Amino acid sequence: MSIEATAEGVKPVGLPRLNEPAPEFEAVTTHGVIRLSDYRGRWLILFSHPADFTPVCTTEFIAFTEIYPELQKRGVDLLGLSIDSVYSHIAWIRNIKEKTGVEIPFPIIADLNKEVATLYGMIMPGESKTETSRCVFVIDPNGILRAMIYYPLTTGRNMHEILRLIDALQTTDAHKVATPANWQPGDKVIVPPPTTLEMAEERVRAGYECVDWYLCKKEL
Ligand code: BEZ
Repeated sequence: MSIEATAEGVKPVGLPRLNEPAPEFEAVTTHGVIRLSDYRGRWLILFSHPADFTPVCTTEFIAFTEIYPELQKRGVDLLGLSIDSVYSHIAWIRNIKEKTGVEIPFPIIADLNKEVATLYGMIMPGESKTETSRCVFVIDPNGILRAMIYYPLTTGRNMHEILRLIDALQTTDAHKVATPANWQPGDKVIVPPPTTLEMAEERVRAGYECVDWYLCKKEL
């Protein structure tokens, strides 16, 4: 991420980078003032939506609430964000509950001054200069940014994929492996590629399921 000097001071611009510390912030939310550092020791999904009281966003908030218990089982918290006031967020959450019976359990940042949105590169001016795109940032218990997903305004996100991504990250961390395309929990995982000739030959002898020395899978 680069640094830009503005009338308001020096601020980072552009997208944050994977495997670097996620930008720290302090923000007004529907659950009071929250800092990123409050989540240290837990996984966090920080996500943005374009605007309150919009149809796709409403379906997403209901869907995030549906996977919330599964996320909590995995030690993952949710934190939403849009460039709306906290009063708008409160009115929208109350409206969702009144119309659908769904109670939104996680906080939402009221990023009226676009501070957090700018830090995380959530605004895509080609799409909208006043709304955040549908961004998802997965931040690990050490505050490191581990994954980013960007979706356009018109496409609601896939909650199965978000859960799958969390499962893949937690599995690869725990077992020092990688996960193949379309991996689901319980599937075989990829043994990290060998970096020496000796490791390559040893791996073929190890009894893994190998296509060749560079692509071997094993059960966990
Ligand atoms: C929606 O959530 O429905 C939406 C929001 C902004 C642009 C397009 C759709």
